Amino acid sequence: MATITGAVTSSHVPAIGGAIAKGLQQDPYFNPFFAGFPPVHAWLAKAKPDVAVVFYNDHGLNFFLDKLPTFAIGAAPEYRNADEGWGIPTMRPFRGDPELSWHLIDRLVADEFDMTMCQEMLVDHALTLPMALLWPGGGECPVRIVPIAMNHVQHPLPSLSRSYRLGQAVGRALDAWDEDVRVVVLGTGGLSHQLDGQRAGFINKAFDLMCMEAIVDDPERLTRYSMPDLVREAGAQGTELMTWLAARGALTGRVSKVHSNYHIPISNTAAASMVLENEVSVEANA
Ligand code: DHB
Ligand code: FE
Repeated sequence: MATITGAVTSSHVPAIGGAIAKGLQQDPYFNPFFAGFPPVHAWLAKAKPDVAVVFYNDHGLNFFLDKLPTFAIGAAPEYRNADEGWGIPTMRPFRGDPELSWHLIDRLVADEFDMTMCQEMLVDHALTLPMALLWPGGGECPVRIVPIAMNHVQHPLPSLSRSYRLGQAVGRALDAWDEDVRVVVLGTGGLSHQLDGQRAGFINKAFDLMCMEAIVDDPERLTRYSMPDLVREAGAQGTELMTWLAARGALTGRVSKVHSNYHIPISNTAAASMVLENEVSVEANA
């Protein structure tokens, strides 16, 4: 059985990649965000994951408006990054775990989540930057990855409720995996932000702090926000909260908050990170 050690959630703003490339972690503008990561590193050193299942949203690097799956999962031996035009260096490839990917695909489809299966998949800043924040230094990443991309580009988007239930289905599938591996689940994006239109620059601290509280003890509360309500409260790109809810859904034990950090702004975004620990014992995750 796979052990789900916990979930880490993090923002993925491209400016973070620029700051990493230029070594600006101590810069006064970026430091309040980067200062949130040493506790994450300490937790990872204890959790010792072998695999990261990463809920993220592709921004047009691998999927574009011509063909845009609601939910897609990688089943590749490795995943490459490519230039998205943000001016951040591309990263070395990440190792995949095709066996686990196919197990998840089998279980998810049996559980009525009709995933788009990708035996090739480019991964964008929403995956690569959180990985670089969690495992800094630029060397070979110590974990294999299973990427799960969620549509937040073309409406209609998957609801928060559906996203949470996708996470729960992933949690059940991991519980049913007979390899003895340790898994961390990542949710990347958010928190509140809007990059364009009349409300460009919109941030809602009160709503973000409510989300960071509710995601620990009452994630169902968040699933009751419709997409129009979420866009109103969190901005057009605040819809990335769906990835945090999917990661939270995958936690099958009792959940405790190990760490959280919140800072306004990095670029146009309220930037945050959290670590939620998962007790090993399996509870009802239906
Ligand atoms: C920004 C935030 C994002 O989530 C993203 O994908 C791109 C840019 C920003 O705030 O600049
Ligand atoms: Fe984004």
